[in-house]
Amino acid sequence: MEKSAVLVGVQWGDEGKGKVVDALAEQFDIVARYQGGANAGHTVVVDGRKFILQLIPSGILRPGKVAVIGNGVVLDPEALLDEIKTIENAGVEVGDRLRVSNRSHLILPYHRLQEQAAEAARGAGKIGTTAKGIGPSYEDKSARRGLRCSDLEHPESFRRKCLEALAEKNLYAAAIGGEVIADPELVVEKFWCSARRILPYATDVSSYLNQEMDRGKAVLFEGAQGTLLDLDHGTYPYVTSSSAAAGGACTGTGVGPGRIGSVVGVSKAYTTRVGSGPFPTEVHGDEGGQLRERGNEYGAVTGRPRRCGWFDAPAARYSARVNHLAALVITKLDILDELDEIPVGVEYEIEGRTLHEFPASAETLGAVKVRYEVLPGWRRSTFGLRSHSELPPNARAYLHFISEQAGVEVAMVSTGPGRDQTIWIESSRWVSQFALPK
Ligand code: GDP
Ligand code: IMO
Ligand code: MG
Repeated sequence: MEKSAVLVGVQWGDEGKGKVVDALAEQFDIVARYQGGANAGHTVVVDGRKFILQLIPSGILRPGKVAVIGNGVVLDPEALLDEIKTIENAGVEVGDRLRVSNRSHLILPYHRLQEQAAEAARGAGKIGTTAKGIGPSYEDKSARRGLRCSDLEHPESFRRKCLEALAEKNLYAAAIGGEVIADPELVVEKFWCSARRILPYATDVSSYLNQEMDRGKAVLFEGAQGTLLDLDHGTYPYVTSSSAAAGGACTGTGVGPGRIGSVVGVSKAYTTRVGSGPFPTEVHGDEGGQLRERGNEYGAVTGRPRRCGWFDAPAARYSARVNHLAALVITKLDILDELDEIPVGVEYEIEGRTLHEFPASAETLGAVKVRYEVLPGWRRSTFGLRSHSELPPNARAYLHFISEQAGVEVAMVSTGPGRDQTIWIESSRWVSQFALPK
């Protein structure tokens, strides 16, 4: 089997993917992002220093590893250049360890304006986006009027395409009384001047990855957001605009499905969500507040408080199926350390009937009643523990329970933000397949 794997968020994002990619990256040669954009905020703590990566795959922090941004990503050139500068200033050499797909679509200044107008127009029904221009850039990609990284190689046609797109946007904006871009030529010129600086990183990513895989190199595909934010499989319309689930790894990089060895899902030991949309196991009031404070659940990108709740087994089972998960990584177990009892949502009911499928409709998901099983807490610190046998028996029982409920083995448990605050589960087939430390 190919020694490549997709790492995907099981929930609504912020599961701790950055930390887990960093912990796994030692076993891989290349880490490739396949979707999303600077809406992602992946936190990695290395030797006590905190990095928040939005576009560059977390693998960049490991010397010698190559970081690849696939064609499925929407790229804000300014954001990428700023991120390169920030990590270089922190002493991480980027150089030719970063490659960007020449087929990736660009985020232009008008995309952010368009998003602001769309969110304002939705009023109370807003999605609560990250305001990074993600949705409008993907809209233009589907509408076949997007600009791609490779367009930067052709200054004249780039300017023409960009001005044509801008004229169209201005027509719509004027029609709805929105903000019109007054000086299109200037906007295009300014964008061009900074955007062309990403050209040295431009690569045919499909060709690069497949060649490297032919030579036996191992690739870790890093998902952003999470399965429940996936455009097709998530809680539509309260989703992001890309294929965050594992299938996106193939279309988002140009690597065929047969080359993907396995898929590992990252889930918190509880659940969080930022932005609007249904969240069946959400807890309000003091209980939710305690999870938020203990888990420091504030958005890495927008600083917004994250909504908090209990582990949602029906959602995890759904995610396991959609992604064909071979293994689960459970993060932030330590956040539950002080609780006497820990509820786990095990079933959804609607009008007294058990639901056997995760509902397609946001209205139905918003109306489900959750049946909980309550597990005893362990009331002991698990922070920083590194072996399964050191875990309190009730913590082991909790992990066993959520693994059984999800129908997927647990391969790794995270007990803190640091690289080494990690427990590898010795009996896990996935751990032995990837020759991970035991
Ligand atoms: P991502 O978007 O999936 O990469 O997750 P974020 O970085 O947005 O949010 C996860 C947060 O939890 C970050 O602040 C991490 O440093 C932190 N974190 C990750 N794993 C653990 C853990 O096991 N314990 C604790 N206490 N914090 C963790
Ligand atoms: P990482 O990779 C959590 C959410 C937004 C909003 C919805 C759509 O750090 O897990 P968008 O700006 O993408 O159009 O917003 O998706 N969202 C995330 N929530 N983690 C993320 O990324 C997210 N990226 C987008 O809050 O509800
Ligand atoms: Mg995040």
